[in-house]
Formats: sequence, structure tokens, C-alpha cells
Amino acid sequence: MNIRIALLSGDGIGPEIISQAVKVVEAIAGKFNHKIRYEKGLVGAIAIDKAGNPFPDETFELCKRSDAVLFGAIGDPKYDMDPKAFIRPEQGLLAMRKKLGLFANIRPVFTFPSLIEKSPLKPEIIDGVDFIVIRELTGGIYFGEPRGRSEDGNVAFDTCIYTREEIERILHLAFQYAKKRSGKLTVVDKANVLASSRLWRETAQKMGKEYPDVDLDFMFVDNAAMQIIQNPKRFDVMVTENMFGDILTDEASVICGSLGLLPSASIGKLTSVFEPIHGSYPQAAGKNIANPLGTILSASLMFNYAFKLKDEASLIYLAVEQSLKQGIVTEDIANDNPKTTSKVGDWIANYIESN
Ligand code: IPM
Ligand code: MN
Repeated sequence: MNIRIALLSGDGIGPEIISQAVKVVEAIAGKFNHKIRYEKGLVGAIAIDKAGNPFPDETFELCKRSDAVLFGAIGDPKYDMDPKAFIRPEQGLLAMRKKLGLFANIRPVFTFPSLIEKSPLKPEIIDGVDFIVIRELTGGIYFGEPRGRSEDGNVAFDTCIYTREEIERILHLAFQYAKKRSGKLTVVDKANVLASSRLWRETAQKMGKEYPDVDLDFMFVDNAAMQIIQNPKRFDVMVTENMFGDILTDEASVICGSLGLLPSASIGKLTSVFEPIHGSYPQAAGKNIANPLGTILSASLMFNYAFKLKDEASLIYLAVEQSLKQGIVTEDIANDNPKTTSKVGDWIANYIESN
């Protein structure tokens, strides 16, 4: 197959982890005879520095003409410490999601047997956890207008808005996932307080009738935050609005032992984007210590979702599993003798080539 991949490394550890994913993709391409063309694009703080825009038009064009986007991370502390910064790197990521129409962010949460001891949670609670969070990605408080400050600067406001159409679109996807998996769907909201959540709940209740084989349940987000830690095996497919999904998936990453491990797929109208759920980890940038597995597993999701190449996707997953088993891991999850970012990437690529 001929494949065009856009590489958007972004900021912080982005370039290092994307390089490892490329090694792995190359190993797969060699083994399965795919011809892959990579093109690099700017996004985030580096795009502000070089092009004055966190998501330049050129990058947008590149994404549109590609078959998939592999994305690293975004964010730079120089902007975090300046709440008045007018242009922020994160706007690049949000613009990319909005312009590509990526309304669904799929975040699988799972454990690897060899990492059970790495989680601060008890093994019996997390062993065998396997659920997915479907996070709505282009609506809610992240994008709602009006937003801003009063003239005197002493009042600030954001708006959480959802249309019925936006809710139906993401819920259809969630119902379909639930059908493919165990048939259980949990809608997470705050319908006891928020009007937008009440529209989510009303819409889901109505749609439930179209999906009689899906067992639908509802949970308030505060309760869901607790259940993810106390009883995560109760979940199979969870669907929720943008900000709740952002927060709950960082929380859920504790189950698998490191935020550095979890991949995600953002899908919607135009080209899909594959990215780890972690941020740009600026303290580690350039040190060759960051965990590349979230990005490598995102490449696995890319083969599965964007190219429908299941064997390729499974082999990447298997190689990651083997690297964990054999302790070829970075310092965030190493017991002793941590490996560098590039060493982990080399090992996984090599495993793929020789298996
Ligand atoms: C994520 C990130 C982003 C988000 C930030 C960097 C804007 O935390 O992908 O989860 O909040 O969506
Ligand atoms: Mn986040």
C-alpha cells in the first residue's frame, strides 16, 4: 500500500517520541511491503516561533493531503507562566482538531500484565482492565463562545455549549463501539447541575431506543472519577463531553502505570490524527528519557483505524508488549537499568524486523 503520513512533532519531547514511532512504522513498512512517504509540519510553540501561528495553513494543507497524521505533543512552559499570552501553543492543537472536524477522540485504557505492579492501585482492582473512553473533541467549554474577560478585567467567563446534533454524532459512534464490544455504554455527565449535560442525557435516552441491544447507563462525572479508581472493571465503553474526557483519561492512565503509555485516535470528517494522551513534558525534552510507547501505540492505532491494516497494528502491539516483558523500558516504568527513548524505539523496531 502507498501511504502518506504527516509528522507533526510539536514541542518538548514531541520530536524524540515521533522519531521512535517512525522507526517502528518503517520496520512495519519493510516487513509488509508498504511504501510510506513522510512529510513534516509545524504545530504548537515551535510553529509560533517559526511561522507566527500555532497551526499554520501549510500544516493544515499537509494534514488534508495525508492519509493520517502522527502527532507528538504541544506546550511550552514559557506560555504557561504567562497567562496574558495572546497566542498559545495549545491553540494549534485545538485549531487542528476543529479544522479537521475531529469530533471523536478514542482513548483505550488497558493494563499490561508486566506493569501491574507499577500502578499505585491494587493489582486485584486493575488486573484485566480494558475499556475505552470516547471523548467529544470539538465542542463544549473548549470552544464555546462567548469567552473572555469583562472590560475591567475582573470577571472571566467560558461557555459550555452543545447542540443536539453534536451530541447525536458522538453518541452514534459510542453506541456502535458498544455494540462491537460487550454491549455496555456509560454516558458520563453532570446532569444534576449542567443544562448541557441534561441535553446529553435526554439525547442518549432517546437514542437508546435505536440501540436496544446496548445496555445504557448514566453516571455523574464526580462519581465516574471515583469509580475509575475504585472499580475500573465496571466500564467497557464510556462516552463523555470534551473537558470531562480530558480529565478522566489523565486519571485513567494511572491504571496502566504511566501517562506515557496511553495512545489515542482522533477521528471525524477529514484526516485522522494519532497522538499519545500525554503532554510535551518539557523537563525531559532533549534528554532521551521520555517514554515513546504512547506514540508507538498510537502508530498501532493508526494502522488499525486509518489504514485498516490489522496485522500491522497487532504486530506493533505485540512488540510493545514484549519490550515491557523484557524490561526494555524508560525510567518512568523501569525497576532498574532504565533504557533511553531511542533504545526502546530501536528495540521495538528490531523486534518487528526479526519476527
Ligand atoms: C490532551 C491535552 C490537550 C487537551 C491540551 C494540550 C490542549 O491535554 O490532548 O488531552 O486539553 O485536549
Ligand atoms: Mn489532556
